[in-house]
Amino acid sequence: MKTIFEPFRIKVVEPIRITRQDEREKLIRSVHYNLFGLHSDDVMIDLLTDSGTSAMSAEQWAAIHRGDESYAGSPSFYRFERAVKELMPFEHVIPTHQGRAAEAILFALTAGQGRIVPSNTHFDTTRGNVEATGATALDLVIAEGRDPTSTHPFKGNIDLDRLERLLAEKGDQVPLVMLTVTNNAGGGQPVSLENIRGAATVAHAYKKPLFIDGCRFAENAWFIKQREPGQGERSVQEIVREMFGAADGMTMSAKKDAFANIGGWLALNDDALAAAARRRLILTEGFPTYGGLAGRDLEAIAQGLKEIVDENYLRYRAATNAYLGTRLQKMGVPIVVPVGGHAVFVDARAFLPQIPPLAYPGQALAVALYVQGGIRACEIGTVMFGRAADGEERPAAMDLVRLAMPRRVYTQSHADYLLDVFEEIVAQKDTLRGYRIRSEPPALRHFTAEFEPLSS
Ligand code: F0G
Repeated sequence: MKTIFEPFRIKVVEPIRITRQDEREKLIRSVHYNLFGLHSDDVMIDLLTDSGTSAMSAEQWAAIHRGDESYAGSPSFYRFERAVKELMPFEHVIPTHQGRAAEAILFALTAGQGRIVPSNTHFDTTRGNVEATGATALDLVIAEGRDPTSTHPFKGNIDLDRLERLLAEKGDQVPLVMLTVTNNAGGGQPVSLENIRGAATVAHAYKKPLFIDGCRFAENAWFIKQREPGQGERSVQEIVREMFGAADGMTMSAKKDAFANIGGWLALNDDALAAAARRRLILTEGFPTYGGLAGRDLEAIAQGLKEIVDENYLRYRAATNAYLGTRLQKMGVPIVVPVGGHAVFVDARAFLPQIPPLAYPGQALAVALYVQGGIRACEIGTVMFGRAADGEERPAAMDLVRLAMPRRVYTQSHADYLLDVFEEIVAQKDTLRGYRIRSEPPALRHFTAEFEPLSS
């Protein structure tokens, strides 16, 4: 069918401010061509992130009213804990205000100078938190995961041979093995159940725990159901339970696959590590039954977790991205295939071959999308990952532009508008030029770097 069936009605609306191109040209110049600097009401379609931007359901808003704000032992915490354990059977569930707070606690306790934390691909905050302790964040995604054109069904898989070799050679430096589902930085690509089990087997053979960064676990499970032999008849819930049943712990941003606007957690089985994590939590986040969240946020997450595994929702979610992806391809816009779970990733390096990686083709495309159509996307490439921990600048593995879809927010008409804007960009793509960075902070530079357009 050509029509995406959005399985919800809209009860509350937010107006979108319509801007003109000349206005947008001035606005983007005034923030030094960094899209993070824009006021969001100067953006018409905001695809910067799918994080914290979901539309909550009527049931979530109702649950918010049930939020109990007791400092300790709130029933909202116990509802939250039950909802998490229903899907992710870990002993200890420790709420945090968002995903990176869970990462900061985990790595402060396990990483440190000289350590190595392998993953399929660390996302920026995960890498930042690993490196902040002095450890090395190592990406071991399979080779297909670095090739935007490979149609491997599970391009998020970790390379088990390389993982095994790392553990055999430098196992004493490795505190834990991490897997990001789906693999956000690599195009929102899923990890197979077989690969999760394989990573657990390898990690356990060397007595290392496996932690899953579970941000987009439901989208990952949906792809497993669609693509992995023998999984088609199982429910998404069952698949989710098996994914996490193979692991020893997880970090989570509830701002993604829990439909919440804020929140996260660290969950794990190791009693001693959990006790240390709770001690740290009290210092940095709050008491273990709220951990940086209000009782009402815990309620929104508990309800969101029930809704996110609804297969009608997940079918619509995947259909939205596939709709955009196939139409962009027909227009000749190169994208990462297969289309990911939360976003369509445009291969800006292939789309704009006249712009070398160190002149940031992804940034050039992201700025063009804003100027042309008021669309805000996110560069995931050399701007985000090009500055190595040693201070050197090198091209990232890929130069992508992520069109991240907020959950339950935009309709098919918004998708069609986006496609119209792309058509205009395709017509003028050879005139687009690169950028240079005129100032950048020492870490996570993409958030605040200032850019200058290159004249040729
Ligand atoms: N892990 C992954 C895979 C993520 O995508 C993110 C956030 C985090 C951890 C951190 O979670 O934001 O709650 O602290 N990703 C957002 C994004 C910001 O736009 O992809 P957080």
